[in-house]
Amino acid sequence: MNVAMRIDIITVIPQLIEGFLNESIIGRAQKRELAEIHLHNLRDYAVRKDRRIDDYPFGGFAGMVMQCEPIDRCISALTAQRHYDEIIFTTPDGQQFDQPMANELSLCENIIILCGHYKGIDYRIREHLITKEVSIGDYVLTGGELAAAVMTDAIVRVIPGVIGDEQSALSDSFQDNLLAAPVYTRPADYRGWKVPEILLSGHEAKIKEWEIQQSLERTQRLRPDLLEKGKR
Ligand code: ADE
Repeated sequence: MNVAMRIDIITVIPQLIEGFLNESIIGRAQKRELAEIHLHNLRDYAVRKDRRIDDYPFGGFAGMVMQCEPIDRCISALTAQRHYDEIIFTTPDGQQFDQPMANELSLCENIIILCGHYKGIDYRIREHLITKEVSIGDYVLTGGELAAAVMTDAIVRVIPGVIGDEQSALSDSFQDNLLAAPVYTRPADYRGWKVPEILLSGHEAKIKEWEIQQSLERTQRLRPDLLEKGKR
């Protein structure tokens, strides 16, 4: 019996992520108990009466910094209940998120994703509590919520059984460092735009060969860096 993977997301804006979690494939994965995703409002762990969780940085720098105590209280409340394989912090200076990392994280039983905000979080949290720092790309978002949503989506969809046909997650672009071949559906001729003849032939082996050739050609043309990566 499979135990659902559990993802706990700590954020100051849970409503930013809430809608997305309950929709479509991710919503269905939860209903089918393949994944369990919990949102925690960091302000519920604030120590100050005004529920603020940030303060001015030491050293007179600009911006606000998220304080240690609310984050520590929230993470401690979670880790007191179960073991976590990773405690992740979303930050533009983290390790680049990619398909292999999504695959690897999907094998975890329990993970925490802490969404960064403001100018950052007190560095002591990163040194003492965080086990993995992750960026979704070389650009700066206003907060880590969208990064947490992107990661959750990519992780949950590769959990076995989440996508109807398991083969379809395996044939995604980036699995095997190759972009996927193009796909088509009916009608076979739309305004004179024709579907490649081979796909209508019913010749399985030839279609497979076409798919591989297309996949290689598109990767060579659009993302040659992936082919280099695959050789390493
Ligand atoms: N927070 C702000 N920008 C980010 C990024 N690019 N990746 C992850 N977290 C972030």
